[in-house]
Amino acid sequence: MSEHWWRDAVIYQVYPRSFADADGDGMGDLEGIRSRIPYLAALGVDAVWLSPCFASPQKDAGYDVSDYRRIDPRFGDLDDFDRMLADAHAAGIRLIVDLVPNHTSSEHAWFQAALAAAPGSPERERYHFRDVVDPEVPPNNWQSIFGGPAWTKTDDGKQWYLHLFDASQPDLNWDNPEVHAEFQSVLRFWLDRGVDGFRIDVAHGMVKADGLPDTGGDGTIEMIGTTQAPFFDQDGVHDIYRSWRPIIEEYDGDRIFVAEAWTDSAERRSLYLRPDELHQAFNFDLVLAPFSAADFRKAIDSEIANNAGVGAPCTWVLSNHDVQRHVTRYGGGELGLARAKAATQLLLSLPGVVYVYQGEELGLNEVLDLPAEVREDPTFFRTGGAQIGRDGCRVPLPWTREGSSFGFGANGSWLPQPADWGALSAEAEDGVPGSTLEFYRSAIALRKAHKATGLTWLADPGEDAFAFDNGALVAVVNFGAEPVPVAGYGTEVLLASSPITDGLLPGGSTAWFNK
Ligand code: GLC
Repeated sequence: MSEHWWRDAVIYQVYPRSFADADGDGMGDLEGIRSRIPYLAALGVDAVWLSPCFASPQKDAGYDVSDYRRIDPRFGDLDDFDRMLADAHAAGIRLIVDLVPNHTSSEHAWFQAALAAAPGSPERERYHFRDVVDPEVPPNNWQSIFGGPAWTKTDDGKQWYLHLFDASQPDLNWDNPEVHAEFQSVLRFWLDRGVDGFRIDVAHGMVKADGLPDTGGDGTIEMIGTTQAPFFDQDGVHDIYRSWRPIIEEYDGDRIFVAEAWTDSAERRSLYLRPDELHQAFNFDLVLAPFSAADFRKAIDSEIANNAGVGAPCTWVLSNHDVQRHVTRYGGGELGLARAKAATQLLLSLPGVVYVYQGEELGLNEVLDLPAEVREDPTFFRTGGAQIGRDGCRVPLPWTREGSSFGFGANGSWLPQPADWGALSAEAEDGVPGSTLEFYRSAIALRKAHKATGLTWLADPGEDAFAFDNGALVAVVNFGAEPVPVAGYGTEVLLASSPITDGLLPGGSTAWFNK
C-alpha cells in the first residue's frame, strides 16, 4: 500500500549480547546474528533494529559508547559487521543501528581528554561540568534515571559532571558545535557503510533547559512514563533533528530515524515526526497500558489522530530491552501468554509499524529470579537493589531443546536461562502447529497479505472487547475473562490467537476475519 517500506514494516529488535553466541564466550556476537538471518527471514520481518554493538566498557550493556566508529571486540569487528549487513540485505532484511547521542562512555577519548584538561577548557565544554562550591551540594537537584544523584565529582574534587544515567555515562553538551559536527560525521560513517537507519537513544534528552534549573519535587524522574523535565523533551531538541534529516535524505534507499522519545502525550511525541524531522517514534503507551479494551482503545485513537496530524506512521511496541516482557506483564503463565499473543495480533492489524523484541516470538517470559551476583543493570546497583532492573528481559535466547545454554552458545550464557526454556526454544517450536513461533510467522505473513489502510471501529462484541475494520480485515479483540460472540464479524477466520468454539472468542484472544 505505501510507497515507503518504513510506514508499515515489521521491525525486529536484536539485543546483540543475548541473541546468538558464535565464538563461545558466553555473550552474543555479530557472527551469531549473521548465522540466524535465515531464521529472521522465515519469521518474515522487514528490518532489524540492532541495539548498540559499538566499542564500550559495557557498564550499561553498550549504551555507554567509547568509540562510535568501532565494533566492540566482544561482538566482532567492522568486517563482521559488513558481512552481517550484506547477508541481511541479501535476505531482504534492512538494518537499523542504535545511535547514543545523549551521552558517551566515561572511557570515550573526549571524556578522558576532558578529565585531563583544566576547568573551563574546550575539552570540558563538550560535557556539562560545573564548579564545586559546596562538596555536599550538587549544581542542581537532578537525579539519575538509574537512581542516585545525576552529578559526580571529578577525582580532584573541583568540578561536578552531569550524567542522567550511570556515572560512567557523562551527558554531552549539545550547545557545543563540536558535538553536532561529531555526530553528523558518525551518521555519515554508518550511512556510508550501508545501514538503513538509526534508532536514536534518549532522543528527547539531548537539550537541557538554559541554566540547568531544578526540577520540581525531589528531582527524581522516571524515564518510563515521565512528564516534561528541564532535561527531557525540550523544544530545542527539534533543531538537531532538522539538521540530521537532510543528511539521511542525501543517501538513497529510503533510510530512517526512529526516536526513543518518552513524552507525556502522543501530541508532544508527534512533534518529533514532523516532515523535516524523524520518521518514527516508538509509542510506549501500550507498554504502559493495562490489558483492557478501554486503555488500548484510548492509546490507539490518540496515536492515530496525532500521527495523522504530521503525516507519520504509528509505531507500535509491546516489549523491548528496557521493560518487563509482555507475557509477564499480562500475568505470566498460560494467561499471560494468551493475552500477549492477543495483543501482538492486535498490533499486527493496526495501521503503522510494529516492533518485535527478540524472543517474544518464542513466548519468552521475564526472568524474575536472577540472583544478585549475575545482575548487570546499573539500575539494580544504583538503587541498592530496590529496583530490580532490566536484566530479566535480557536473558539469552534458547535456540535448541538441549545443550549448553539451549543452543545460544557453546559455553553457557552471560545470564543463566530458566531450566524450562528448552521447551520454548526455536527448535522446539519450529513447525509445531499452535506454537508461539508458528503463530508469529502466520500473523506476520497474513498482515502482509492484508495490509491495513486505516481503522474504523465496529460495534463492541462485549464489555471488555472491541472490534475494528482496518480496510483489509476485521479484527476482534477480547480483553475480558468471558468469551464473546463473534459470528457477526465475518465468516472466514484468517487467524485466531486461541480457538473460536461455537461462535465464541475466548477471553484474552484476538481473531481476524476476512472482509
Ligand atoms: C535508553 C536505552 C536504555 C539505556 C538508556 C541510556 O533508554 O534503551 O537501555 O539504559 O537509554 O542510554
